Amino acid sequence: MVGRGGAKYRHPVVTILTLAFYIEAVLGQNLCPKSMENYVASMVLSALGDTLGYYNAKWEFLTSGPAIHKELAAMGGLGNFSIKGWRVSDDTVMHLATAEALVAAGKNPDLTHLYSLIAKNYKECMNDMDNRAPGGTCMDNALKLDPARPETWKAPFSPSGGGCGAAMRSMCIGLRFHRADELDTLVKVSIESGRMTHHNPTGYLGSLASALFTALAVNGVPPLAWGKRLLDALPSAKAYVSSAGSSVEENMKHWSYFEKQWKEYLEERGILDGVSPPTFPSKYGVEERDSFYTSLSYSGWGGSSGHDAPMIAYDALLGAGDSWTELAHRAFFHGGDSDSTAAIAACWWGAMHGFRGIASSLYTDLEYRERLEQVAKELYRISRA
Ligand code: AR6
Ligand code: MG
Repeated sequence: MVGRGGAKYRHPVVTILTLAFYIEAVLGQNLCPKSMENYVASMVLSALGDTLGYYNAKWEFLTSGPAIHKELAAMGGLGNFSIKGWRVSDDTVMHLATAEALVAAGKNPDLTHLYSLIAKNYKECMNDMDNRAPGGTCMDNALKLDPARPETWKAPFSPSGGGCGAAMRSMCIGLRFHRADELDTLVKVSIESGRMTHHNPTGYLGSLASALFTALAVNGVPPLAWGKRLLDALPSAKAYVSSAGSSVEENMKHWSYFEKQWKEYLEERGILDGVSPPTFPSKYGVEERDSFYTSLSYSGWGGSSGHDAPMIAYDALLGAGDSWTELAHRAFFHGGDSDSTAAIAACWWGAMHGFRGIASSLYTDLEYRERLEQVAKELYRISRA
């Protein structure tokens, strides 16, 4: 380096330190390519999606997509009405519970300590469920959690524990453990937080899908590759569940449903290889999507299970291109379990795009906005290498 007074001597140690600084800056950027704004958008837009899909229970339980779209149009369309007085549903309350536990556990968490914090938050957040339509499995099992007794941190195995209650609250695990070398931790934490209430592979693998896709969004992996990455992660999830030694036989007996459903879906869209672009039917409007979402479902209500809530969110994301409005039309406003598919899809969207193209007036009146922003910023800070 040449200074004003001519050539400047640099001690070799200074040169090495400077070099190390640049390498870390560059590596740090590669390891954590998204900014704090993406983290904030991810948490805030998820809650916004939940709020819109829920519409104070009116739209979550309206089973006709065309009827919802008609009401939406009569209100002026997305962005042209206020959400003042619209509440977040249980999805966001539980997502906040997960996120705040991850933050409380700190930068290098001991997993047992983290699980006790998650158990504490899941139990406590049940006090905030008035008019939020919590799921039955979530409610029954969260109330039985005792943060001081690890034996309570897994719900008893249940053939009916395949609801989307675990998948709707785990996205932030992917914000926290987004690095490739943290995949094992992401797998464990998404499964264990999931089976605190949903001890069934279809339930807790939904939690894995929501978390994994958020991590891939943070890392800038193109969505068309995500489905294959999920299938690739299933063997290690299975090995973990086998080695963890809790109701192993029952878990293995019920393992295949989730995987089979996902394979079929990815085949249908032509993206099983993780590189081909997705293909959609030539006519795929509100009605057609309602029927397709129903066809994916376990018992007739599209998006209410661990496999199809992230699947519908993913289908919407793949079909939306870079249009937030299109994402909302596909993931928030349909005849199925729309608040959950909305909360998941909007979270991924925020991680990918930040607030780009979304008027801030849309979320000014969002309930818990400050809490969501705060926890997102803290998640960003502790998840940096
Ligand atoms: N495989 C697939 N789906 C199943 C299975 C199974 N083995 N067992 C039950 N289901 P619920 P949650 C479906 O009521 O998961 C919030 O409002 C079952 O057919 O226990 O605790 C969210 O917005 C049912 O449709 O709820 C969600 O609406 C579905 O799982 C909900 O609560 C939901 O099960 C999620 O919470
Ligand atoms: Mg809900």
